Amino acid sequence: MNDRPFDGGPSWRVVRTLTDGTPVTIRPITPEDREDLRAGIAALSPASRYFRFLQLQGPPSDELLDYLVHVDQKTHVAIGAEIVSPDLKTTRGVGVARFIRLEDNIAEAAVTVADDMHRRGVATVLLAELLRAAEVRGIERFRAEIAADNASMRTILDRAGAKQVEDLGSAITYELALNPSHTATFYEVLKDAAESKAAWITRHALPMVAQASRLLR
Ligand SMILES: CC(C)(COP(=O)(O)OP(=O)(O)OC[C@H]1O[C@@H](n2cnc3c(N)ncnc32)[C@H](O)[C@@H]1OP(=O)(O)O)[C@@H](O)C(=O)NCCC(=O)NCCS
Repeated sequence: MNDRPFDGGPSWRVVRTLTDGTPVTIRPITPEDREDLRAGIAALSPASRYFRFLQLQGPPSDELLDYLVHVDQKTHVAIGAEIVSPDLKTTRGVGVARFIRLEDNIAEAAVTVADDMHRRGVATVLLAELLRAAEVRGIERFRAEIAADNASMRTILDRAGAKQVEDLGSAITYELALNPSHTATFYEVLKDAAESKAAWITRHALPMVAQASRLLR
């Protein structure tokens, strides 16, 4: 394991902690992820699928899957987040983030998290690593076209300091200027959230569990 920004190498990994304390490994997407990605996209709720792919209806085509997994990790960078199952026997992909260099130093960015893993910080850790990977590749701005009713992603972008550059009514284009302070902001936000949730669990949830187990004795 290392803590360097993603350099494009297949063995790169970093481990982060979600806001509920679950460790998550961030690693490159490879062609071997094709069938897991097919299953992951098929399992998305209609709303999540629409928010991520806008036009996509039904299962993803073979062409789309090829495009999503055959990435050069230079102009098209894709990373995934995976967690270990409770029995420690298998791993499960829970999110993917990517960017595609458009022109000069601008890249289109996208992120998707499995519906049952929302609000645990998966997008935050993925985007933080995507930002670091973009910075070392000379990207200066991320662009993202977001459905106007995608409140979750709009909140994330607002919190990261992204600016709206186009408003077409049903879709809004955001741009985020990259610099190390943005990456730091993502980590700070996550760290603060994780610490406050961990403190809540220690203060409230653990005593409740202890009390419940005393009652059951
Ligand atoms: C948008 C998306 C990627 C967010 O993923 P996530 O892992 O749930 O996001 P995080 O847990 O890192 O949330 C970070 C912060 O964003 C905000 N946020 C996320 N989801 C939110 C929601 N449903 N409502 C309000 N705020 C939300 C919160 O401020 C949250 O921090 P908090 O939980 O500490 O309050 C996820 O909802 C998703 O996959 N949606 C479908 C695909 C999509 O819309 N992709 C974006 C377009 S490319």
